[in-house]
Amino acid sequence: MALSLLPLAPLSLRTPPPRASLRLEDDSPRLNGASLAAAAAATRVNAWTEWGTLREVVVGDAHNAHFPPRSPALRPAINREGGQCFLEPDGSVVEAEGIGALLERSVGWPAGRKAQRTIDAANQQLDNLAAVLRRRGIAVRRPSGGVDWSAPIKTPFFDAPNQYCATCPRDIVATIGNVVLEASMSRRDRYFEVYQYRDMIREIWRADPAMLWKAAPKPSCADRMYNSEWWDLRTEERYAQMRNYSFCITNEEPIFDAADIMRCGKDIFVQLSMTANAAGIEWLARELAPSGVRVHTLRFPYDLAPSHLDCTFVPLRPGLVLTNPERPIAEEDAATFAAAGWRFLDAPQPTNPSRPWASQSSKWLSMNVLSLSPRVVVAEEQEVALHRLLEAEGFEVVKVPFRAVYEFGGSLHCATWDLARDDCCEDFFP
Ligand code: ARG
Repeated sequence: MALSLLPLAPLSLRTPPPRASLRLEDDSPRLNGASLAAAAAATRVNAWTEWGTLREVVVGDAHNAHFPPRSPALRPAINREGGQCFLEPDGSVVEAEGIGALLERSVGWPAGRKAQRTIDAANQQLDNLAAVLRRRGIAVRRPSGGVDWSAPIKTPFFDAPNQYCATCPRDIVATIGNVVLEASMSRRDRYFEVYQYRDMIREIWRADPAMLWKAAPKPSCADRMYNSEWWDLRTEERYAQMRNYSFCITNEEPIFDAADIMRCGKDIFVQLSMTANAAGIEWLARELAPSGVRVHTLRFPYDLAPSHLDCTFVPLRPGLVLTNPERPIAEEDAATFAAAGWRFLDAPQPTNPSRPWASQSSKWLSMNVLSLSPRVVVAEEQEVALHRLLEAEGFEVVKVPFRAVYEFGGSLHCATWDLARDDCCEDFFP
C-alpha cells in the first residue's frame, strides 16, 4: 500500500493531540569550542561499562527509514492502541492518538518508506539529544554511510524487499574495552546495516592505533537458521517454548545483536533471546576470554518477546541494576549479582505507556535510559515516575523528549552507541 496514505487518517479519529514544542532543556554548563575540541581529540575507544563517564558517543538518525519487512525473525504488527508522532509545520511534535486500530482494520502492516513527517519528528528529537550531549562536553558522531534503505537485498541464501534504518546503532555494534565489535545480526533486513557506520569505524580505527576492529561471523540467514513454525504456534504453545528459551532463531549458527549485551567491567551479560542464541553467546565467550572478560548468559523466563536487554535489565552503576518488574531474571542467573552484593531496582510502571502504531517495542522503552556517568542518566521527559525513583537514588536525571523515536526501534539506550567512557576492566563481581 502507498505510504503517503498513512498520515491521512480522518481527523475525527484523532483525539486533540497534546502539543509539545521541542525544547532544549539542559542546564548543564556549556563548554566552549576549545574545550570541546580538546575533549574530542583526547578520545580513545574505551568502554567497559554502561555507566563510566561518557566522553564520545554515536547518536543514530532516522533518515529514509523504512518499515521492517515481515521475515522469519520478525512478524511486525500494528500496535492497535498506538497513535502517531509527527512534525507540524511550526516544528512542534504532535502525538495523535487512535490511528493504530483504524490502520489494523484497513491496511495491515505497510511496506516501504516511513512518512516524511514521522521521520522528521524522530530526527528532530535525535538532533536534540545530540545537542544536549554536546553541550555537556560529550563528543557526538552521527552515522553517514549512505546506505539506501529502500534497496532490496539478495544473497545466495535469502532475499529481503528493503532494509531498515540507522536509528539504533546500539543493536549493530558494541564497544567492549578497546574493541569495536560488529554484531552478527539476527534479522535479514538488518544484514548490511553496519555499513552505515563503516566510514566512521574506519576513521576511528585510523585515528586510534590501540583500537581493535572485529566482526562476528555473518550468519547465512537462510531458512534453516530460523524456527519457521514459531510465529504460528498457538499462544500457549509459544509461551511454553519461550519459558524453555526456544525462540524464532535456531541454535544452528552463532547469532547475537549488539543490544543483547550489557557491560559491567570484567563481566559481560548477554540475554538468551529472539536475537541472541546460545551459540552466539558461546562465540562471544570464547572471543573475549583471552582478554580476561567473563561472558554470562541471562535468562528472563517471563519476557515473552525477549530481544535486546535494555528494556529489561539496565546496569546503572556498580552494585545497582534497573530491572523490569514484569520480567524477573531467572533465579540461577540472579545468583551472580546477589553473591557480589548487587541490588535490583524495579522500574515503575511507565508514566506514559503509549507508543506509535508502528512501534514493535513494549511500553518498557520507559526504562531505556542512557547513562552519562554513575551519577547522571538521560531519560524520556514524560517518564516522571522513573525520574522520581532515580532522583531518590541520588541520580541527576537529564530529561529529553524522545517518543517520536519509539517506532524506529527504541529509546535513548538503543539510539546511541558509546565509543569512549572513563572506565576500565574492573572486577565488580569478585
Ligand atoms: N524488546 C524490547 C522491548 O520491547 C525492546 C528493545 C529495544 N532495544 C533496542 N536496543 N533496540 O521491551
